[in-house]
Amino acid sequence: NGAAQVLVASNRGPVSYTVGEDGSLDAKRGGGGLVSGLSAIGSDADALWVCSALSDGDREAVRRGVGEGGVRMLDIPADVHADAYNGVANSVLWFVHHMLYQTPLEPVFDAEFRRQWTSYERYNRAFAEALAEEAAQGATVVVQDYHLTLVPGMLRELRPDLRIGHFSHTPWAPPEYFRMLPDDVAGQVLRGMLGADRLGFLTRRWADAFVECAERFAGGVGGTRIGVHGLGADADFLRQRSHEKDVEERMAALREEIGEGRRTIVRVDRTELSKNIVRGLLAYRQLLDDHPEWRERVVHVAFAYPSRQDLAVYREYTAEVQRVSEEINAEYGTPGWTPVVLNLKDDFARSLAAYRLADVALVNPIRDGMNLVAKEVPVVSDAGCALVLSREAGAHEELGEDAITVNPYDVTGTAAALHEALSMGPEERAERAKRLAAAATALPPAQWFLDQLDALRAER
Ligand code: G6P
Repeated sequence: NGAAQVLVASNRGPVSYTVGEDGSLDAKRGGGGLVSGLSAIGSDADALWVCSALSDGDREAVRRGVGEGGVRMLDIPADVHADAYNGVANSVLWFVHHMLYQTPLEPVFDAEFRRQWTSYERYNRAFAEALAEEAAQGATVVVQDYHLTLVPGMLRELRPDLRIGHFSHTPWAPPEYFRMLPDDVAGQVLRGMLGADRLGFLTRRWADAFVECAERFAGGVGGTRIGVHGLGADADFLRQRSHEKDVEERMAALREEIGEGRRTIVRVDRTELSKNIVRGLLAYRQLLDDHPEWRERVVHVAFAYPSRQDLAVYREYTAEVQRVSEEINAEYGTPGWTPVVLNLKDDFARSLAAYRLADVALVNPIRDGMNLVAKEVPVVSDAGCALVLSREAGAHEELGEDAITVNPYDVTGTAAALHEALSMGPEERAERAKRLAAAATALPPAQWFLDQLDALRAER
């Protein structure tokens, strides 16, 4: 047995390394709910994060045996990782859970998939073995997401003394969609998950879908408990960070681009296929058609940051976002007005600058586990923004009352919602934004994480 009392396992870890020109290793800490959640238990020597080495710098750090305290990176063979991460996790499980296969030609479960599935098992096994090695007697382990569905079951066999949790940051597909997976694969995924003492989901809807799948295809959830923990925005961090100098500088630059006296419709996404950025742009175009009075008076600030560029469909989607934005600018733009300000390069400070300037936030995913942007913008926006929100985002369960709800497929409806949001009086907007911000920050990351640990330890 090892010495760690609390362990987190996820594909992407809290830190990544790059090799400098002089050969030195430079560590960069990532953001996100899980990182700030884990920091709540302090930098205790007895907490450990197990993750994949993803970059050349990461692999070099493993080789040299250097690294941040509290992190163990697994140097999984590149081909095995590519099969597991790109092939199974991101091309199959992610699509199934977001219910996003929409052509008659997908998915295809052939020999190639079977090979990738074997890699997925190996990759999960590598995590289970590392966790078994590092965990102290009776330690608590929280496994994250669809990359690691087999880990709880494997770890349970290796270390029956551990308290094992698993948390899903994505939706979970209902049985009618989940059954698309080959029966044996579906069974392995469900039994792997049910090796945990407790499974966490972001909303009731995803938790219920899991329970239905377990009942239909695995004889029920057995002794595994199911919990709902709706990760919220980190109000203190966001308010402080969004008033730092680099954000103020980017606000000035963005104001210049937008132009004097114009409203802004802001969206910020990783360019994932679920985010529905193209229909958002089409809705904006329809707004300009249906309500010409908004021409020259509004700008759509759209930040679409790169994600999973190893997958061709993601590259094509990014290109489509770019193409449609350019079309709108060519069709409606005037010498003094650029209708769409698109940005594809990841810049957190600039995202916060856009949040602060937002009059309207557009969050219209086809499906989303939660969507933290919907929760962050109302907290950060200076004047209190109106929120146009897809009913298919997990965040809608908490924010639906004060948002303007849209069906993400309905471009005409989304255009009407944008018009309604832009037309909302400043007082109503500010009132609603206040209530949205309160709901959005009800469960900050630290509490979200501690609640899960408490529940996991209390219930056994
Ligand atoms: C999406 C999912 C998250 C997942 C993340 C991984 O955003 O909703 O649940 O953790 O992708 O992203 P990555 O860049 O590591 O593939």
